[in-house]
Amino acid sequence: MTCPHLPEGFDATDPDLLSRRVPLPEFAELRRTAPVWWCPQPRGITGFDDEGYWAVTRHADVKYVSTHPELFSSHENTAVIRFNEHIGREQIDVQKLIMLNMDPPEHTRVRQIVQRGFTPRAIRGLETALRTRARAIAEEARGAAAQDPDGAFDFVTRVAVELPLQAIAELIGVPQEDRSRIFDWSNKMVAYDDPEYAITEEVGVEAAMELIGYAMNMAAARKECPAQDIVSQLVAAEGQGNLSSDEFGFFVLLLAVAGNETTRNAISHGMHAFLTHPDQWELYKRERPATTAEEIVRWATPVVSFQRTAAQDTELGGQKIKKGDRIGLFYSSANNDPEVFGNPEVFDITRDPNPHLGFGGGGPHFCLGKSLAVKEIDLIFDALADVLPDLTLAGEPRRLRAAWLNGVKELRVRTAS
Ligand code: HEM
Repeated sequence: MTCPHLPEGFDATDPDLLSRRVPLPEFAELRRTAPVWWCPQPRGITGFDDEGYWAVTRHADVKYVSTHPELFSSHENTAVIRFNEHIGREQIDVQKLIMLNMDPPEHTRVRQIVQRGFTPRAIRGLETALRTRARAIAEEARGAAAQDPDGAFDFVTRVAVELPLQAIAELIGVPQEDRSRIFDWSNKMVAYDDPEYAITEEVGVEAAMELIGYAMNMAAARKECPAQDIVSQLVAAEGQGNLSSDEFGFFVLLLAVAGNETTRNAISHGMHAFLTHPDQWELYKRERPATTAEEIVRWATPVVSFQRTAAQDTELGGQKIKKGDRIGLFYSSANNDPEVFGNPEVFDITRDPNPHLGFGGGGPHFCLGKSLAVKEIDLIFDALADVLPDLTLAGEPRRLRAAWLNGVKELRVRTAS
C-alpha cells in the first residue's frame, strides 16, 4: 500500500475543513491508496477528540463495520461523553438511554419497541398533515419573495428548517401550542458547534435537558391516561415491551437530533443541486421520479461520518485494529465510491439502483427515520415544484461549521416572477 498524498495534517472531521467543503478529492485518494487509514491528530469538536482514529472510506468496508456490531461497538460515543460531563455520570447513565450508542442485545430490545412508531402505516398516517405543511411552507416562502425588492429569500430558514421539526412533532403528537418551545430547544442543541450562532455548549445541554423533561412529562401523562397516539403505544404499560419514561425522554432527544438537522440539510443541498443542475429540475417538475429523494440523500450525504469503537482486536482492509481503537465511517466517501456507483460525480435523480449509505451501512443502527425522511423530501420538493417552479440561485451557500455534518446555514434563492 502506498502512502496517500494528503494535505499536511489532513483530518476529515476537522470543522474548519467541513465549514468550507466535504473533502471528496482526499476521500478518492484514500479509497485508492489507503482505504483504512490511521488519522493521528483529529480536530473534530464533537468527533474524535485527540485520540486518533481509523478512517474507513470504501463502500464495502463501511458496510462491513456497520453490520458487525460484535467487532465494532456503538458504545462510548464522544458526543455522549461530553453530555455526561455536564450532567454528571452518577445522575443518569446516558449511555444506556440513547439507542444510537447501545449494542445488541440491549439495542435490539429498544429498537423493537420504537419501531412500532415507524411502521409504513404510521408514516402514511402523517402524510396528509405533512403534505399540507409542505404546501404552506412553499406558499409562505413565495409570500416572502414577493415582499423582497429582489424577490429573494433564505431557503434554509424559510423552507428547509420547518418540515423536519413539524414531522417529529406530528409523529409524537406534540400539541400546536408547545411546538415553538420544542423547535427552540431542538435548534439550540444542533447549532452549538458553529460560533456564528453564539450558542454555547452549556446552552445546548440545557436545551436538551428541557426537551427531555418535557418528553418525560408527556410519557407520564399518557401512562395515567392513554390516548390513541404513538407515545401511548410506546410507554403505556411499562414493562418488557415498553419504554420507561426516562427512555422515552432520551428517545425524543435522539429524534430531535437525528431527524432534524439531517433532513434539513438534505432539503437544502437538494435545492442547491437542482438549481445548479437545471436539467434535473426540469426533469423533476415534469416527471417527479420516485428515485429522487434517494439521490438527493446520496448527493448531499448530510451525515459525513459516524464512529464506532473496536470491541476486540481485528483486521480491516489489511490493517490490524486494536481493541479500543476509534473507527470513523465516512459515508460521504462510500457514496462516491466508483466501485459501486457509475459516475458518482453526476447528480442523477433517476439513478437506480442507488445503494447509498447516507442512512447508514445497513446494520442494526440503520436510520430508523429513513421512510419519514424520504417522505418529507418528496413532499417538500413536490410543493416547491408546484408553487415556486422558477427559483434561481441568488448567492453561494454558506456552510455550517461542524465535525460530522454536511450542513448549509444559508442558501439565498430568488423567484423570477
Ligand atoms: C440513525 C442518517 C433522518 C432517526 C441514523 C444514522 C444515519 C442517519 C447515518 C446512523 C446509522 C448507523 O449508525 O448505522 C439520516 C439522514 C436523514 C435522517 C441522512 C435525513 C435525510 C432521520 C429522521 C429520523 C431519524 C427523520 C426520525 C425522526 C434516526 C434514529 C437513528 C438514526 C432514531 C438511530 C437508530 C438506531 O440507533 O438504531 N440516521 N437520518 N433519522 N436516525 Fe436517521
